[in-house]
Amino acid sequence: MSTFSRIGVFDSGLGGLTVLNAICAANKGLSIVYFGDTARVPYGSRTPETIIRYAEQDVRFLLSKGVEAIVVACGTVSAIALEELRKEFSIPIIGVIEPACDAAAKVTKSKHICVIGTQATVHSHAYSDYINRQYPDMTVSGIGCPLFVPLIENGFREDDPITKMTVERYLSPIRNTDIDTLILGCTHYPFLSGIIHETLPDVRLIDIGVALSEVVGRTLTLPHNISDNFVEYCFSDRETGFKRFDAEHLKDLPNGPIKSINIESF
Ligand code: DGL
Repeated sequence: MSTFSRIGVFDSGLGGLTVLNAICAANKGLSIVYFGDTARVPYGSRTPETIIRYAEQDVRFLLSKGVEAIVVACGTVSAIALEELRKEFSIPIIGVIEPACDAAAKVTKSKHICVIGTQATVHSHAYSDYINRQYPDMTVSGIGCPLFVPLIENGFREDDPITKMTVERYLSPIRNTDIDTLILGCTHYPFLSGIIHETLPDVRLIDIGVALSEVVGRTLTLPHNISDNFVEYCFSDRETGFKRFDAEHLKDLPNGPIKSINIESF
């Protein structure tokens, strides 16, 4: 079996860094190319056709960097474009839907799971279809939270009153229901996990980066005995100084070169 030592990880912007952080915390010896499409974020309010086109360009860019496998660190692309990507490209492509749902199914006691995500993700029913298929005894609800990604990408943190009001607005309807497990179905949302937990203190939060990093270790044969990960950070526009904020969710990211690329040329 071949060893995958060079992998590509991509998202529409900074959210995929929470997945990358979890991958780096759980695995060593990887050479990773991260791509954040900051020129075109958010993906979640776009049509499936546009999301698929963007995702294909993102994969072509990563292939040009010589990656041997790809992690789609974006709930929206995983929900809308994963099948097309797998048909079109021959290297292993791992998405976030299944690991997140499996992790939620493992911990729910009430068997009522809620998924929050972008509009495109919730409309696609990708999470609920998978849960209904694999865990027919469970109930799944979905809430689109289209303002979360723009807040995060524009630097609004959890202590900002606007962030608090927005979280309250989207999530208070499920307070005091039988939902006991909430899938943060967009990789940006861990940046809001503190305030989401305050809003829904009795609900278990599923961080898809953590769920997925275990699958990466299981699915790909990774190199051994090499101590450090190497990451090259590529963005199609500004990188918003990501190394400076939110130490908790990005604390395992190694330093690495930051590059600007023209994604439209791929
Ligand atoms: N991090 C992406 C996701 O997981 C954000 C999508 C967007 O750009 O709207 O869905």
